[in-house]
Amino acid sequence: MRSILVVNAKGGCGKSTIATNLAAYYAIKGKSVVLADYDPQESSLDWLAERPADRAKITGIAAHRDGLRVPKNTDYLIMDSPAALHGRPLAQLVRRADAILMPVLPSPIDERAAARFLVEIKNLRRVVNSEVRVATIANRVRDNTLAAGSLYEFMGDLKLPDGKKMWHLAALRLSQNYIRAAERGLSIFEFAPVKTLPDREQWARTIRWLASIENR
Ligand SMILES: Nc1ncnc2c1ncn2[C@@H]1O[C@H](COP(=O)(O)OP(=O)(O)O)[C@@H](O)[C@H]1O
Ligand SMILES: [Mg+2]
Repeated sequence: MRSILVVNAKGGCGKSTIATNLAAYYAIKGKSVVLADYDPQESSLDWLAERPADRAKITGIAAHRDGLRVPKNTDYLIMDSPAALHGRPLAQLVRRADAILMPVLPSPIDERAAARFLVEIKNLRRVVNSEVRVATIANRVRDNTLAAGSLYEFMGDLKLPDGKKMWHLAALRLSQNYIRAAERGLSIFEFAPVKTLPDREQWARTIRWLASIENR
């Protein structure tokens, strides 16, 4: 089993959007997927409740309330996390993760918050020991804006505790596709390819990066 934690102490940066789209991506591929929601707001579970019964199945767990017992034969565990996650609860989630995806919005406030949060992430033992891979994803990006340029610069400069560059995997555009998908319990991967081609392309590198971890 591979476990992927989507995390950032800042609310509204796209954790649930990324967690749900990724869960659906693997489910469509025929994988057995658990979506564990650690946020009492349960956005991921709300999304799952809307998911049509004829779509690729995803198992939801209200992990914030029930804890996490992952069924046998699970291929992918996707963990969605709450805002303001720090300290021990954060360390506990990171302990379960093979990979950490951290969405960041193109705004100075979000960059500063991300920088502070990364200091905490980089001090965790599993991260220091390179036992978990950490990468950023720019989200809700409008291309050719100053804010996007500044975010890429910020992300390009980030380093891991071993001195290597932190992976910056993607810039997901601001798109109504994500809103429509969220409403209906779907992912952008379940809409017509012509309508979602840029979005799918923007995900490709993240999917490859996650696959490269599997092959280690
Ligand atoms: N790339 C995107 N394009 C358009 N809307 C987005 C995008 N990413 C997230 N959103 C919207 O932004 C809001 C916050 O995203 P969400 O995933 O709930 O963030 P978080 O889980 O970090 O609080 C939601 O309404 C979501 O639908
Ligand atoms: Mg959320």
